[in-house]
Amino acid sequence: MSAVSGAPVRIGLLGCGTVGQGVVRMLAGTAGATIERASGQRLEVGPVLVRDAARPRPGVDPALLTTDPERVLGDPSVAVVVEVMGGIDPPMSWLLRALRSGKSVVTANKQLISRHGSELLRAAQESGTELRFEASACAAIPVIKVLRESLLAAEIEAVTGIVNGTTNFILTEMRRSGLSYADALARAQELGYAEADPTEDVGGADAAAKMAILASIAFHSRVLLGDVPYEGIDRLQAEDVDMAHDLGFVVKLLGLARLVEGAVSVRVHPTLVPAGHRLAAIGGPDNAVLLESSTVREIMLVGPGAGGTETASAIVADVLSILGTHRGSFLHNALADAGRPILPPDEVQSAFYMRLVVADRPGVLALVASVLGEEGVSIRTVVQRGQGVEARLVMVLHPTPGVRVRAATVRLAALEEVREDPVVIPVLGSGEGG
Ligand code: NAP
Ligand code: HSE
Repeated sequence: MSAVSGAPVRIGLLGCGTVGQGVVRMLAGTAGATIERASGQRLEVGPVLVRDAARPRPGVDPALLTTDPERVLGDPSVAVVVEVMGGIDPPMSWLLRALRSGKSVVTANKQLISRHGSELLRAAQESGTELRFEASACAAIPVIKVLRESLLAAEIEAVTGIVNGTTNFILTEMRRSGLSYADALARAQELGYAEADPTEDVGGADAAAKMAILASIAFHSRVLLGDVPYEGIDRLQAEDVDMAHDLGFVVKLLGLARLVEGAVSVRVHPTLVPAGHRLAAIGGPDNAVLLESSTVREIMLVGPGAGGTETASAIVADVLSILGTHRGSFLHNALADAGRPILPPDEVQSAFYMRLVVADRPGVLALVASVLGEEGVSIRTVVQRGQGVEARLVMVLHPTPGVRVRAATVRLAALEEVREDPVVIPVLGSGEGG
């Protein structure tokens, strides 16, 4: 497949929505000509599977639109199948079939790769085809290729990232433009950043899937979606974003993956990032991934984390890598699983922000401090705002294993003096172990 020849390389598309249309536009535009000049290959869009084939898609010959997957999977002229439809099944069975029948596959589907990536990679290896999935993590940012190829020998110890464009856009717009959470989410959907089911974004499942993929590659050890505890931004209130700002922090939905004494710790949750930290400056739908290793110290990759055209860039690059590295891919190293244990999230140590709504009367602050003290949790900063009947009590806690803060939170929530469920958010970079 790597030989330069006159025949175009035919691509079958499974899906032609935000990302699929980006691929079509890219190949029809100047990028198509650049690719042909540089590689000697002309990429041609072949059959395109959609749900509604009667609706025209700009740049796609209507005769190529189909609702029958056989038109893509059973077409011997299709060399590469590009899956940009999303979901687990049917894509899983269709991609296995494509790989086993000798077609290489490029996918943007993080939910599928984070659950079944190794099975798909094995099918690719057994049939001498390739599976590539750069667009599945951080859209346009070439983080998978960099980890797998450029940093293969760098012994990465930590991957910290803003890996969901929708939530970063929402958090940025809530603070910058004063948009409500609901309006910012609606705008992210209009702009094509959000998943078909946006609860995947705001609930943290999308970021968890991406962190499972990035941790697997960074640490050369299989991490599945089920290994990544996650929490989204759907329970955050504008008040927490504002309070954090007053305390010198920016709230971000972070993915944190780290090797701790040989075990893998991976999780996703809202995090208070110090305002001067490099990740604090990443706004809008952009993503950033900070890679740490004793060899290369720190490398940060930043760029668009969502969007049709942006994501198409990673898809088309994967197709080109397949054409250029047929049978020589680094990707098959994913089958070399070091079998590292997964560190229980409660054992990871972190500083925390805690917000309590308490009765505004004498002795309450001392009561809260004594519960924290009995659970071995020490307070670094306290801000109290009395409002008469109730007071807002905001604390930053010293680094503590999550299990102790959780125990203290349960006890505090049960107190008559505590009027709402406590809000607890980890703080980045203050002696945390993950
Ligand atoms: P989308 O706009 O909802 O497009 C999905 C496409 O798949 C549509 O063309 C739809 O057909 C087709 N489709 C869905 N289910 C189908 C089925 N059962 N049979 C046939 N066709 C089906 O989604 P998207 O935003 O392009 O995302 C696609 C994938 O890329 C997802 O895995 C997503 O996680 C990933 N991704 C998205 C972005 C982004 O910024 N949007 C970035 C990175 C990765 P109709 O057009 O007829 O409805
Ligand atoms: N919905 C995803 C996001 C798209 O907002 O990051 C990119 O994977």
